[in-house]
Amino acid sequence: MARLKLGVLISGRGSNMAALIGATAEPGFPAEIVLVIANRADAGGLETAREAGIATAVIDHKAFSGREPFEAAMDAALEAAGVELVCLAGFMRLLTAGFVERRVGRMINIHPSLLPAFKGLHVQRQALAAGVRIAGCTVHFVTPDMDSGPILVQAAVPVLPGDDEDSLAARILKAEHRCYPHAVRLIAEGRVRLEGDLARIDASSDSTEMLISPLSGE
Ligand code: GRF
Repeated sequence: MARLKLGVLISGRGSNMAALIGATAEPGFPAEIVLVIANRADAGGLETAREAGIATAVIDHKAFSGREPFEAAMDAALEAAGVELVCLAGFMRLLTAGFVERRVGRMINIHPSLLPAFKGLHVQRQALAAGVRIAGCTVHFVTPDMDSGPILVQAAVPVLPGDDEDSLAARILKAEHRCYPHAVRLIAEGRVRLEGDLARIDASSDSTEMLISPLSGE
């Protein structure tokens, strides 16, 4: 069966991109990465992608007069590569509604909180300030409202006594690296249906597989 063609957008170290590269290298994984785009030439993840033999492009937002022409350049690169699903992986630019609406159900993001709690930046700080006992991450479809689209997969991790932003972020990041490939697999296998604001998963074989809990695995 043809593998789903992924385009991954990064701005930094790209550890989630690396998790996707690892997953797509496994035999039988139903998706492949055909392009990695970074909006910064110094994004660490670019080297990781190149080493894996994946096509990369640097599309520097600063080289454009505004968001639309920047996004038009990304549109062109994604289309030329035949990308079917865009995966935002630490991509630190806000996207226009136009760019998002051209990809309804075809663009996903990973966010280091259990949405809808703690949107935006510094989410581990927000979680610690709120005193939550369980933190986590979310893979969701992208909609024009930031960090708000239909939820695909979530993982929970404990907040432990003595945690600071860094220790909590590291624990969440490990969970992210499991969630993102899992969400891609669900989409690539055609098991996700968008119903309004919700993503329905055909999970007949294992009804718990959209949920990765602190007690499962590890
Ligand atoms: C991750 O925590 C992700 O959830 C957030 O940005 C961070 C990117 O990290 N959107 P990396 O570049 O994938 O290592």
